[in-house]
Amino acid sequence: MASDDWTNMTYLNPEQVASLITINDLKAMKQSGEKISCLTAYDASFSALIDNAGVDLMLVGDSLGMVMQGHDTTLPVTISDMVYHSRCVTQARKRAFVIADLPFMTYTTPAVAAKNAARLMQVGGAQMVKLEGAHMEVVSFLVNLGVPVCAHLGLLPQSINQLGSYKVQGKDSNESAKIKSDALKLQSAGASLLVLECVPADLAEEITELLNIPVIGIGAGVGCDGQVLVLYDMLDIGTGKRPRFSKNFMSGATSIAGAIQAYHQAVKAQQFPSVEHTF
Ligand code: KIV
Repeated sequence: MASDDWTNMTYLNPEQVASLITINDLKAMKQSGEKISCLTAYDASFSALIDNAGVDLMLVGDSLGMVMQGHDTTLPVTISDMVYHSRCVTQARKRAFVIADLPFMTYTTPAVAAKNAARLMQVGGAQMVKLEGAHMEVVSFLVNLGVPVCAHLGLLPQSINQLGSYKVQGKDSNESAKIKSDALKLQSAGASLLVLECVPADLAEEITELLNIPVIGIGAGVGCDGQVLVLYDMLDIGTGKRPRFSKNFMSGATSIAGAIQAYHQAVKAQQFPSVEHTF
């Protein structure tokens, strides 16, 4: 079946739709101070395990290019790859909110972004799309069309060839001021969520307090509204070196389901990330 083929798709019935977490639930969690747990997911089996563990959010990340496809960056990932994996994930979940990444070069203009976001939502079943960087015009165009958008600032893996290495961002005052001002502009453009990757914990906490929208951190300290990790890193089944900000939740667990539950509980209890996972 081609990834844009609508036949054989499993649709959710109204009862299942009613049990899905919505963007309003995530916003209410920010308001109440309940931490949001998030993991990346790429297939139906892990989607069901993550969902059963009670994790609030799943991100079909373009990190699948590295952990599933074996590339050394996320750049080769195509929109068809993302549609295919998004559909695998959304068909198996009952509760978690699902965000799908727009991969490299699929949001070069507002019109290109709209066409690709439509595929992620209509065929992939995603509830929101994520894009990297301060693309306010694209965000506002998508939002005006009814597409919920998650912005992504800090370390931008799709820009690795400009950055030269995967390193902490926002360490000097110019960089941190730019990230802060971009975060505010993206919120004004209509973004509903923000992922902050690899930034100092004090900067992430300041941005989290400044914004009304939930901020999900990865390598950004415990002060964010929620946490995300790459699934294969936290299960320690990746082929590369586990990043310093991640943690092996398989250690001490007796099953994959147990490791995912331990992660979910550690995020809720603000026990993860600890100082050793923070910049
Ligand atoms: O692609 C991905 O997995 C991501 C996370 C690292 C946030 O964007």
